Amino acid sequence: MTSPTHRFTPEELESLPIARAWTIPASWYTGAAFHRIDLEAIFERTWQCVGDLSALTEPGCFVTAQVGQAPVLVLRDKEGALRAFHNVCRHRGGPLATAASGCVKALTCQYHGWTYLLDGSLRGVPRWDRVDLFDKKDYGLVPVRVETWQGQVFVNLDADAAPLAATMQGIAERIAPVRIDELTLMKRIDYEVGCNWKVYVDNFLEGYHVPYVHPELMKLYDFRRYQTELAGPYSLQWAPIEPGDAPYDIRPGDCAYYYFVYPNYMMNILPGRVQTNVVVPIGTDRCRVEFRFYYRDAKGEAAERAIADDLDYSDRIQREDMDICALVQRGLGSPAYDRGRFSVDAEQGVHHFQEQLRESYRAWSTRAALPTSH
Ligand code: FES
Ligand SMILES: [Fe+2]
Repeated sequence: MTSPTHRFTPEELESLPIARAWTIPASWYTGAAFHRIDLEAIFERTWQCVGDLSALTEPGCFVTAQVGQAPVLVLRDKEGALRAFHNVCRHRGGPLATAASGCVKALTCQYHGWTYLLDGSLRGVPRWDRVDLFDKKDYGLVPVRVETWQGQVFVNLDADAAPLAATMQGIAERIAPVRIDELTLMKRIDYEVGCNWKVYVDNFLEGYHVPYVHPELMKLYDFRRYQTELAGPYSLQWAPIEPGDAPYDIRPGDCAYYYFVYPNYMMNILPGRVQTNVVVPIGTDRCRVEFRFYYRDAKGEAAERAIADDLDYSDRIQREDMDICALVQRGLGSPAYDRGRFSVDAEQGVHHFQEQLRESYRAWSTRAALPTSH
């Protein structure tokens, strides 16, 4: 597949300290070429969360996902190891699995029935007499890197990427004693949002909008102490929280933690529960946000009530964010707007993310400029 062509200007890609920096140009959120550029430059180069280990407990159980432009399948093999493959048959590109998840004994292509074992090797090829120069050994499924962190399953299409642990370094220590893999996944909810995926991420990365967009959430925080910390691959926003109307068992000293791991993974950590978001680009002005809700207390009437309240609360906040993000997408398409500036006080996370974007685009431009080998 040919790459989209696009020339970034040196000025657009220049890194500047936040006090002097511009936000990224509006065309990066609205330009038709950017959907493909982002898939290539970012989503096919980074660790992408495709689900939770609880769906992959038994041999033959699998989940599927779209990662950049690649359909991918993650499964547990007969020996109990986790494996990931491109979900693309070596015959003529058919799919091995079309369901979001399931359990199988072997992978049978849904087009003409080629069958692969759980280790990816090609086993059965119907009606294949008289084919010359063909060795099944050369037609196994193409593997993809897969790693896990606290029960979260990530894949990476880039063979040269640093291990997932390098990306997540320091987070486990900081959120301890919380461990996501000790909580119970109770709910998955997907929202489709009418904005470019970067608008949704920008919005997640600042508390600047909270007083204006989320009056209810505002009551939860000690907002004067809301702050942002930056690390290489991720950022953290956190604030002390106070008992009030919110459906949480809040003790003195409790905080809310909001992690963003570049480019599209978020963890929202409140007492007794963690909620993860994965932002998936669908088109230039559309994305899907996958919410997974994990709870410490998952059984009993009181827990069920608390979970229902949390889901309602989260849904209200999410709808406020979706509405403002769709309106911002419209504003970014206006001929009156090109780019803006940052609050040094309140938008360090957005600036950090946009610097990461620039870094990805610089690397993409360099790769695109290299002569391709044949
Ligand atoms: S494409 Fe898979 S069997 Fe033909
Ligand atoms: Fe928000």
